[in-house]
Amino acid sequence: MSSKEIMCADFMKQMLDIIEQSYQHGWDERNGGNISYLLTQEELEPYLDITKVVSTFSLSICVKELANKYFLVTGSGKYFRNIKGNPCDGLGIIRIAKNGKQAELIWGFENGALPTSELPSHLLSHISRLSVDKKHRVILHNHASHLLAMTFTHELDERAFTRTLWKMCTECLVVFPEGVSIIPWLVPGTNEIGEATADKMKDTRMVLWPYHGVYVAGNCLDEAFGLVETAEKAAQIYTYVQAQGGIKQAISDQQFKQLAERFSVIPRKDYLD
Ligand code: 13P
Ligand code: ZN
Repeated sequence: MSSKEIMCADFMKQMLDIIEQSYQHGWDERNGGNISYLLTQEELEPYLDITKVVSTFSLSICVKELANKYFLVTGSGKYFRNIKGNPCDGLGIIRIAKNGKQAELIWGFENGALPTSELPSHLLSHISRLSVDKKHRVILHNHASHLLAMTFTHELDERAFTRTLWKMCTECLVVFPEGVSIIPWLVPGTNEIGEATADKMKDTRMVLWPYHGVYVAGNCLDEAFGLVETAEKAAQIYTYVQAQGGIKQAISDQQFKQLAERFSVIPRKDYLD
């Protein structure tokens, strides 16, 4: 089957839409950011001959837990601005080999590109999320501006950071009741940042990379994108609040408890007074 037909697939349309939206929000300058989307064999088979392997490449980590799983993933160094116009170049579909140490390219990356340099973080985070949520499918990283800025000005304490974001928009507690995790600054594209992120991903779907960006998980692209949108909006409001002279009044912990009860969410233990 030709690669034209795969452009009609829902997963492809959704991926290109989220890439475009993320770029329009200013979260993916140049090649900043990356996405991986777990796909099933059943979803792919109408569009691709999955027995045809274009190329095989080694992984820097062993991810046996993901053997035979397929991912639609952004390419390393690919400008988000350009991916929609040339998806076969900027995107690829890979299958993790049985030994967990290699991946096979099934489609895309036509000019010899490789998956994102953050593939170790993505794959290890997929393992973490799947271990706690069978419906998990998406890992999304970008350089959301206000969240990134807050990592310079706000104390990098997970509880304090989470509480500040919760306070900035009433709906934040409902969207991410488990809070936000924060790792130390680490070199991007390394196994080390991947391991630190994946460790946090067992508890939260959102991890901040100080002075770099945000890393989120979701059951679908919309959910992952919505998580960044919500936290980024809160960070934007925080920026305005600080510029206007700082917090004079805010939602109380008692009100947070009422909110959690109404929307049947359980706020992270000990994050409310
Ligand atoms: P890639 O182009 O390799 O995906 O890297 C972009 C990025 O944001 C690294 O953190
Ligand atoms: Zn990045």
